[in-house]
Amino acid sequence: MGTVLVVDDIAGNCRLLESLLVPDGHVVRTARDGEEAVRAVHDAPPDLVLMDVMMPNVDGFEACRAIKQDPGTRLIPVVFVTSLNDSASRIRGIDAGADDFVSKPFNVPELRARVRSLLRIKRYTDDLDSAESVIISLALTIEARDAMTDGHCQRLAHFASAFGLSLGLSDDDVSALQRGGFLHDLGKVGIPDAVLLKPGPLTSEEYALIKQHTVIGDRLCGELRSLRKVRPIVRHHHERVDGSGYPDGLRGDAIPLLAQIMGIVDVFDALTTRRPYKAALSLAKAAEELRGEAARGWRRADLVATFLDQVARD
Ligand SMILES: [Fe+2]
Repeated sequence: MGTVLVVDDIAGNCRLLESLLVPDGHVVRTARDGEEAVRAVHDAPPDLVLMDVMMPNVDGFEACRAIKQDPGTRLIPVVFVTSLNDSASRIRGIDAGADDFVSKPFNVPELRARVRSLLRIKRYTDDLDSAESVIISLALTIEARDAMTDGHCQRLAHFASAFGLSLGLSDDDVSALQRGGFLHDLGKVGIPDAVLLKPGPLTSEEYALIKQHTVIGDRLCGELRSLRKVRPIVRHHHERVDGSGYPDGLRGDAIPLLAQIMGIVDVFDALTTRRPYKAALSLAKAAEELRGEAARGWRRADLVATFLDQVARD
């Protein structure tokens, strides 16, 4: 059972589908055209959309594309209920992101079975989605523990994904950088406040404990498929190109590119933010520091240069 949005410009078609779905326990809402559908999906996301193709104003293809392009609604299955059975229309539908097609006039038991099966899949993706959002809220809770790093995660997510875009990385990589911004220090949840928030210098044992945040965070991401590309960022964002970083002392290209990117953005944000024990550096001073780290062999000079160009443009 779930909430189904039925979209059709002919009111009789909406009523027909409603009369078939309500007895199965589904909640049915209706919209009269693509524009209304996109608004309804955005305002109160349903579990499934059953949509006519030929409609005035915004047609089904266009509405489907809008739903699938919005990260907040792209996992909602969209089924075209259509009398267009030629393969060109089907291809257009698939290109627009449709999950399934039902031909008009439809076979009632088949329609009900498809609705059941798509709602089942939707429940699985909702579960996965909520696993990821638990992890992200955990990361934000950790950030909240340390008032001085306020906004650090948001800034990192923003700058790292913009950096990824300027390097021409794939959408997947850019979205991993976005999530990595929030999750990179996830493992700090396992570090006691007395060490994490200690104002004075750290003992070597305490420093060793802090370094563990990379390994703990990697473990917390676990086997979540959606975090597959984020885990290397979490584990390796403190590695250095000359092998002097942690936790694995990786060298050169063995350090995943996304982790190198996050490392640069992380250091830059720390330098340009005020902390109780230090003032914020000016952008010019922070740039100088980063170039110094590249000269020392800690970071790839070309990546640092590209990042600083981007900062200068912003
Ligand atoms: Fe870190």
